[in-house]
Amino acid sequence: MAIEETSYAALWRTRVRRNISFIAVAVPGPKETNTLHIFMHKIFFFAVLATIVIANACNQEGTPGMQVPGKSGVPDSALAGKTMFEASCVRCHGMDASGLSGPSLKRPKLSHATDLESFTKVVITGISGTGMPGHWDLTDTDCAHLYAYISYLRKQGMETPAGDTAAGRLVYNKSICISCHVYNGEGTSIGPELSNIGASRSPSYLRQALIDPGAALPESTDLVNGYGFSLYLPVKIVTKEGKEITGLRVNEDTYTIQVKDLSNNYYSFDKDDLASLEKVYHTSLMPSFKNTLTDEEIENLVAFLYKSGN
Ligand code: HEC
Ligand code: HEC
Repeated sequence: MAIEETSYAALWRTRVRRNISFIAVAVPGPKETNTLHIFMHKIFFFAVLATIVIANACNQEGTPGMQVPGKSGVPDSALAGKTMFEASCVRCHGMDASGLSGPSLKRPKLSHATDLESFTKVVITGISGTGMPGHWDLTDTDCAHLYAYISYLRKQGMETPAGDTAAGRLVYNKSICISCHVYNGEGTSIGPELSNIGASRSPSYLRQALIDPGAALPESTDLVNGYGFSLYLPVKIVTKEGKEITGLRVNEDTYTIQVKDLSNNYYSFDKDDLASLEKVYHTSLMPSFKNTLTDEEIENLVAFLYKSGN
């Protein structure tokens, strides 16, 4: 970015130099002594100067056909995409596209959006069964602008977690992850499958999931189940017959709720049959590993999870 700022400054200096030599040529020589003439020269001089200042100010917006980076260093060709990205994508993909609850778009190899065509399809129709919603209001041209901006961000550098992936795999094996997650066909599906997790979540989100699991539950973008519906929400149910069930909400509508318990047994209840239904927001069935793993082990585990699917 510093290089671009410097080249912009160099361009500006060239322009100023060109303008100064223009003044030197255009203003008549100082030999005249007539005061009216001197007065006229001064007016002429200031008029030329004002024109130059205004012209330069307009030029800051960029000359067509010339890639003059704006103050942020973003080339003009990507500015329209930047505005759209900030309006519709940053809440899941982060300000610089390195990801939040959505994946980093600065992975060396993207899984779905491999070129402009597949990118446009992913953005407009979404990825069904995942947290990536469709953006039906965007056009192909909007997507081309977004693609230009994301390509620019990708050129700034890729997102690579610092941890050691092989050491992270050992941390995964020795921890109790397998009792609740499936990884490459092994384990129990109480929580979400982790085999491809790096393609759908960012390193910062993965770190948070291990340290503070209740902070952000995965959200549904399925229009049938409800947009923004918290998945894996812990619930405590007591039926009118006195039966108690603690588990995760799988689905819910106005009259019924479906729940699974820690042994992966599924239950469906009519809400009329319940004595109480408590939804425990901002908590997770997953324990925090903040005090059971060291910072280094957490970083290695993040690197291992992030690598899965990349
Ligand atoms: C509600 C959160 C959310 C929003 C808003 C969102 N995304 Fe996504 N996006 C996701 C998730 C989650 C995935 C990963 C899906 C998966 O599991 O494969 C994803 C995947 C993608 C992919 C595919 C990445 C790959 O590996 O190929 C692209 C490209 C993408 N999003 C671009 C965008 C753009 C551009 C916008 C704004 C117009 C946007 N997204 C808005 C959550 C979101
Ligand atoms: C007692 C069951 C349990 C154990 C043990 C457990 N998890 Fe989880 N995990 C869950 C549940 C339930 C969720 C979904 C709710 C949430 O995100 O907090 C989850 C969510 C996650 C997520 C976020 C997934 C997403 O897409 O949002 C990651 C990453 C994760 N777990 C990794 C691990 C790792 C790594 C271990 C072992 C160190 C582990 N979990 C141990 C139950 C568990």
